[in-house]
Amino acid sequence: MNNEMHENMSGMENKENKENMMMIVEGLNMCLANLNIMYVKLHNFHWNVVGMGFFDMHEKTQELYEQVAEMFDRVAEKIRMYGYNPLASMHSYLRVGTIKEAPSEEINATTVANILADDFSQMLMELQNLDEIAVDTHDECLINLIADGMCFLQKNIWMMNAYKTR
Ligand SMILES: [Fe+2]
Repeated sequence: MNNEMHENMSGMENKENKENMMMIVEGLNMCLANLNIMYVKLHNFHWNVVGMGFFDMHEKTQELYEQVAEMFDRVAEKIRMYGYNPLASMHSYLRVGTIKEAPSEEINATTVANILADDFSQMLMELQNLDEIAVDTHDECLINLIADGMCFLQKNIWMMNAYKTR
């Protein structure tokens, strides 16, 4: 292989790596946006839940928003490790996020469980897509971060579905 050919090939590889990295950062930013929307939404439900399931859901939403806060910090710091700036404004989160905010009004615990199961399923599907491109990086820390997110979402989808059927 002559030098010119070799340079062209490594140039192509670099371009591919760069495009892959952009897609990963975009996916992480979408995840960051949804986690921030979820953080606010969980507080909303923590405050506004009423009825028979109040004590369960009031406590559960606090546990969840504390875990979500830890997770979005890890996601944002991972974006920094790649040399990019994470989205860091409510405006950008609402623009990029795929889950919706909830109005501030009284809500029963079963409805909360329904909404959270749907949102978590949406977020899980997006993480599964991100996971598919992340494996090519061989960055085990990225893959671990995504796996932790998927485990958190899977577990809480199960819990919300179990709760609402009682
Ligand atoms: Fe509280």
